[in-house]
Amino acid sequence: MLEKIREKIQSFIDELHHPDISHLASKITSGKMLRSKLVLAICPSHHALIDLCAIIEMIQSASLLHDDVIDASDIRRGNPSVNAIFGNKNSIMLGDVFYAKAFFELTKLDIRIAQSISNAVIELSRGEISDVFMAESFNTDKAKYFQMLQDKTASLIAASAECGAILAGLDSQKYKEYGKNLGIAFQIVDDLLDITQEACKLGKPAMSDFKEGKTTLPYIYLYEVLPLSERKILISYFKKDKIEAYKWLKEYFDKYHIIPLVVAEARKYGDLAIASIKNENNHLLEEVVKTMIYREF
Ligand code: IPE
Ligand code: IPE
Ligand code: MG
Ligand code: MG
Ligand code: MG
Repeated sequence: MLEKIREKIQSFIDELHHPDISHLASKITSGKMLRSKLVLAICPSHHALIDLCAIIEMIQSASLLHDDVIDASDIRRGNPSVNAIFGNKNSIMLGDVFYAKAFFELTKLDIRIAQSISNAVIELSRGEISDVFMAESFNTDKAKYFQMLQDKTASLIAASAECGAILAGLDSQKYKEYGKNLGIAFQIVDDLLDITQEACKLGKPAMSDFKEGKTTLPYIYLYEVLPLSERKILISYFKKDKIEAYKWLKEYFDKYHIIPLVVAEARKYGDLAIASIKNENNHLLEEVVKTMIYREF
């Protein structure tokens, strides 16, 4: 099934009949396809399934093309990012092409699906804008962090679950709620992996968030437990790309046991996700929560 989705994405690109677009797009490799796996776990068979998943994966890639420009990131999915190879201008425009083609294909599906996915892209983009604004200064406001993360990441995961449920004729609200909580847990884990994993495992840069101005949950928690004098040190490392800063941060995350706290927070949202669909009798979705939370990349 995943291979069919990848072939469909390729045929969407081929239908654009443009050698420059094909050339740029050829540098984008497949991701983990977690959103497709989620849709398939909710709706295992439907004639529109492959198209829906291909559309969602194209939107996912479009968001990452833009995200790597925003985050000045030069590795994606284990390869040089499109912005690193062809520059920011091409990366932005290829992202726009992917979005537009995905929306064009969405018009052929149920209007509820088209509206759900389009709305999710508005929320995702709103979340990326908040992320940029929030990177101007050290953020200690957890509510702001959670709202931003719900917008930039949970919205597309929630819409994927909702659309799977629409195709399967299930109660889509429950699945949307499941997807929202799962999406929040997913981004908490992504923010954690930035700190705990190596770039070679992640397929994207590691220890990159804080130097880009992203005060993710581990940094907010650390800030909360530090005495005043050490808070000053933490803030002095904000947006700094220094070995000394990375060493200090790792040492203090350990010293104050911040990583297990953040894992517990992700788990909490994972449990909320499972609770949202507790009477739906779909054990596959519990597995999806586990693979999304206990992943290593
Ligand atoms: C990356 O998403 C962006 C985030 C929402 C953290 P994924 O980790 O699902 O990326 P791919 O599609 O598998 O590369
Ligand atoms: C998620 O944020 C990006 C999107 C929702 C598009 P990140 O900036 O943390 O994603 P990665 O870590 O680069 O994949
Ligand atoms: Mg990024
Ligand atoms: Mg980002
Ligand atoms: Mg990240």
